[in-house]
Parts: sequence; C-alpha cells; structure tokens
Amino acid sequence: MVIITNATEQDLTQIYEIENESFEQPYPYSLLKAYLYLSGDLYLVAKENDYVLGYIIGIVQFKIRGHLVSIATRENSRRNGIGSILLSELERRFKIAYNCFYSVLEVMTTNKEAISFYSNRSYYIVNTKKNYYGRGKHAYLMLKDLLERRGLE
Ligand SMILES: CC(C)(COP(=O)(O)OP(=O)(O)OC[C@H]1O[C@@H](n2cnc3c(N)ncnc32)[C@H](O)[C@@H]1OP(=O)(O)O)[C@@H](O)C(=O)NCCC(=O)NCCS
Repeated sequence: MVIITNATEQDLTQIYEIENESFEQPYPYSLLKAYLYLSGDLYLVAKENDYVLGYIIGIVQFKIRGHLVSIATRENSRRNGIGSILLSELERRFKIAYNCFYSVLEVMTTNKEAISFYSNRSYYIVNTKKNYYGRGKHAYLMLKDLLERRGLE
C-alpha cells in the first residue's frame, strides 16, 4: 500500500536517487536536505513499505501563496497516480493548514509531460520566465486557484 508521509532524513538517499534520474540539472543533496528544515510538513514522500516512489516540496510565500518547489516520481513508477496524490496532498495542506489562496510553480517550457500533468490538474499558464533555468531554458509560471471561488465573477 502506498502512503503519503512527511519526508525525513532517512528518506534523503532515495529522494536524491529520484532527483538524479528525473532532472537534467538535479538539486544537490545539501539543498534537498535543507528543504527538510525550510518546508517542514510541506515536504512529502510517497512510500511503499520503506521504498520511496516519489517526493514533493512546497513552501509558503507572502502568507497566501503556496509554491511548489519540486516534484518527481520514480521513472519506472510514473503514470500510476503517485504524482497526483502527492500534488493533491500538498495542495490540501497549502489550503487547510496554511490558508493559501493559490498554488504556483515553474516548469520548463519543453517539459511536455509535466505541463500536461499540471494542466490536467487545473493549473494554467500565467507567464513565461525567460532564461529561468539558464540561457535559452525558459519556464512557464503556472497557477491554480485553491479557493474554487464560484459565482463571484
Ligand atoms: C510530472 C511527474 C511528477 C508526474 O508524476 P506521475 O507519478 O507520473 O503522475 P500521475 O501518474 O499522477 O499523472 C501522470 C500524468 O502526467 C501527464 N503525463 C505524463 N506523461 C505524459 C505523456 N508522455 N504525455 C502526456 N501526458 C503525460 C498526464 O496528465 C498523466 O495523467 P494520466 O496518466 O491520467 O494521463 C513525473 O512525470 C516526473 O517525475 N517527471 C520528472 C520530473 C519533473 O519533470 N517534475 C516536474 C518539474 S516542474
């Protein structure tokens, strides 16, 4: 059974493995570790027994904005819903525990899989950040309203 739980130092070796197989420019181990203290209960792992299948990191900015810092799942476990349960639990915590109005993230404009993942989960592109990941590597800023404000338009 897959469970979602707060990340701990014991998970870092596996999180770092996932990071390296998932990104061209992975975060260093030290940064993944620092986020344990910066993010607290907004740093989550999906686990089956002690095997980490994916992780997500969030932080709260300006008291109202949840920022999804990073998400990745094991390459051989993708498209099984792990990313979705991590994302919805982070959004739930942004909203319920931290009173965030919305969630934002940056994604590389060439990362079609992740852009579909977010679009299918109610994120939309609000801006392009030129050279965000380095020269010629742009990011979309994507946003999701967490308040479901209906009937206010
Ligand atoms: C983005 C990511 C976290 C999704 O994790 P996951 O465990 O596969 O997530 P889920 O199984 O819940 O959802 C997968 C969804 O992604 C989208 N997706 C994934 N691969 C896709 C592809 N080749 N074509 C189109 N859509 C794709 C779909 O919306 C898919 O949902 P579906 O299977 O219902 O169609 C995972 O692909 C990943 O780790 N990627 C590498 C790291 C990364 O790019 N992170 C985001 C940085 S901003």
